[in-house]
Amino acid sequence: MPRFSAICIALLGALTLAACFGPAKDTHPNQVLTKRNALFKQFTRTLEPMVVVTNGRGEYDKETFLALAQDLEKLSTKPWSYFPQDGNYPPTRARPEVWSNPAEFKQAQEKYRACISALVNAAQGNNLDKVKLAVSEVTSSCKSCHKQFRFE
Ligand code: HEC
Repeated sequence: MPRFSAICIALLGALTLAACFGPAKDTHPNQVLTKRNALFKQFTRTLEPMVVVTNGRGEYDKETFLALAQDLEKLSTKPWSYFPQDGNYPPTRARPEVWSNPAEFKQAQEKYRACISALVNAAQGNNLDKVKLAVSEVTSSCKSCHKQFRFE
């Protein structure tokens, strides 16, 4: 049955390729890389609808907006415990400075959290301009930490 075996070989080849190029396995016993990245993705998912509103591409509804800001505040403390001493392993995009300069990494987290508190405060008020400013400051603090502590 030559045709059958040709199909088998093709299938095996495809499976091998998939195994090589599929998502890399998280080798840490507590899978800290997977956990922190899932939280960072939630940062983005929570921030994005607020950016849509402050860019004028979505309607501003105070209650919905405030709930998002509060969700982001709850998330803002979470990823950092998933950078333990033995947490620097591929395919991380974190720079080695996360581990070699923990004081500055902590400072960047605190700056970020201060921006989020300011956002929650602004979202409790009635001044959309203040809300817009607060969102842009949150976005800048994400970027400034990435610039310092994450490979592009
Ligand atoms: C105090 C530093 C810091 C702050 C603040 C920060 N990040 Fe990050 N972020 C990181 C680091 C470090 C990584 C790389 C993690 C890794 O690959 O191990 C990362 C990774 C990510 C990723 C990639 C996740 C993945 O699956 O690859 C996204 C998305 C992200 N951050 C979004 C955000 C957003 C949005 C904000 C602000 C709302 C933010 N981050 C604030 C440090 C920070």
